[in-house]
Amino acid sequence: MKKYLVTSALPYANGPIHLGHLAGAYLPADIYTRHLKLLGEKVIHISGSDEHGVAIMLNAKKEGKNYKSYVDYWHSEHKKVFDKFNVNFDFFGQTSESYHAEEVIKWFDELYKKELIEPNDNQQLHCKACDNHLPDRFVEGTCYKCGYTQARGDECPNCGIWIDPVKLIEPVCKICGSNDIEEITVTQWYLKLSKCHEKYRAWFESKKNTWRKTVYPFVDSLTRESLHDRAITRDLDWGIDVPLPEAAGKKLYVWFDAPIGYVSNTKQYLEKIGSDEDYLKDWWKNDDTEIIHFLAKDNIIFHAVIFPVMGMESGRINPPTDIPANQYLNLEGKQFSKSTGWYIDIDSAFEQFGADAIRYYLISILPEQSDSSFTWRDFAAKINGELANNIGNLINRCLKFAYKNWETGLDAKYLTGFSETEIGKKFKTAILEHKSIVDGKEFKKGIEQIMSMGQMANTFFSDLAPWAQFKADPNEAEKTIALTSIQIMTLGVLLSPYVPGLSKKILSYFDIALTDTHRKKIYSGELEVFDELFANGMKITEAPKALVPKIDEKIISKLEEDLRGKAEELDNV
Ligand code: MF3
Ligand code: ZN
Repeated sequence: MKKYLVTSALPYANGPIHLGHLAGAYLPADIYTRHLKLLGEKVIHISGSDEHGVAIMLNAKKEGKNYKSYVDYWHSEHKKVFDKFNVNFDFFGQTSESYHAEEVIKWFDELYKKELIEPNDNQQLHCKACDNHLPDRFVEGTCYKCGYTQARGDECPNCGIWIDPVKLIEPVCKICGSNDIEEITVTQWYLKLSKCHEKYRAWFESKKNTWRKTVYPFVDSLTRESLHDRAITRDLDWGIDVPLPEAAGKKLYVWFDAPIGYVSNTKQYLEKIGSDEDYLKDWWKNDDTEIIHFLAKDNIIFHAVIFPVMGMESGRINPPTDIPANQYLNLEGKQFSKSTGWYIDIDSAFEQFGADAIRYYLISILPEQSDSSFTWRDFAAKINGELANNIGNLINRCLKFAYKNWETGLDAKYLTGFSETEIGKKFKTAILEHKSIVDGKEFKKGIEQIMSMGQMANTFFSDLAPWAQFKADPNEAEKTIALTSIQIMTLGVLLSPYVPGLSKKILSYFDIALTDTHRKKIYSGELEVFDELFANGMKITEAPKALVPKIDEKIISKLEEDLRGKAEELDNV
């Protein structure tokens, strides 16, 4: 039986989750998992906190906390945000736990045995001013390929090349800001990616027609000629010990251990639920498992090159099926940045508008093909013009009318035969299209498809004008209300991967509880299910009130002002 392993990039336990993170990886992964679960597929969504690395060490020190309590704090903060926004994981673990280190060591040992990990003397940058080694992101300078002045020690965010930090032009220490930087020689252990080029390309090239156009060509151009060896050890005092006596005191590089977190967390998950399945044989190394990594574009190289090579060569897991990476979400055209005040406080946005409005808007602007921008004005326009007008209004009008005029319920004879009606057939076609859109991981298009079904339902309802029918022939009105209610219930089910809270609310107005089988049938367009479901009629349990509240223009102007004000204030410091 086919299985799906959905992963979302482990967030660094090093600061708040922002809306860009949600749009980059977690919402798409959540929608996709909910989609598959609705269809009755066997799927698990795995993530967790990424808790090693220099950035975490520096910030923990700054706050005077020990590393473990620092990462535990952010781990629990992140979980709270995901809970609020209804982003569900089957397991959300921690890479600082011992179960994770155990798994990582097994990978290291396999790769070492295959002579794919070897020591090498290496030139490293050292800041004389603050006496720190400057790996990766702790040094910035000008990119030697494209001339971009803020290239990091691991990657140039402008042209995307892997940076050799010692080659950076005019390097600056990110820890203390000094440019008093020297090169020193240290021994590190390297992952010999160069030896794996041919095998890697044979696998990679099989993805040409299925991976996103924003992912495949990018990885193709970076890996076509060769793969470069990478140091996977560091001189730090926080991380997983390198399991070699001659490397005593060194730790594994965070990017070596982090992606293995997907695997170690799956193991923990199966143990937690008392499953008799094996995390490798039944999941990660099972040819019937689709492995899908959700992440934003800055994580592509690690998931599309290094981790697949580690998996293939260690033989512990299969390489991924797909890496549907998203581009970036900006805020009013500029990058989110906490330090310059250019960000949205996710908790107050949640308090003010709730999870569904924010999910809806983010999904409608997901940066699937190109960068996109969150703006408060567009947020209000989309919530008011689409979610409230198209969905909220229709439900308010129809269900209120039903509640008021058919207190004891709608008659079964009007509620059956929906699938044979013209609108029923249109719905079925639209649902099948929706399924294939979401199977293709195009979630923005998916919600647009549902909105167009909302339009169909609105047109159906207004054209028949049940309020006028009611005066002439109440039976005709009852039929219109019955058929519109079925469309509303269908929309309620279809919306559940996107806006689970709103979906639940919509479905709660009906006095009939849906089983998983009912949901699956509705979600797959088997609309004959309504004949059985409503065989004894159906009653609306309460009149909906302000299902999707409209957002006032004044509130938006205030939010815009606050954002600009905060940024200016920080600008003047
Ligand atoms: N912590 C990284 C980031 O937030 C992502 C790690 S993904 C993993 O950019 F695969 F390595 F876990
Ligand atoms: Zn320094």
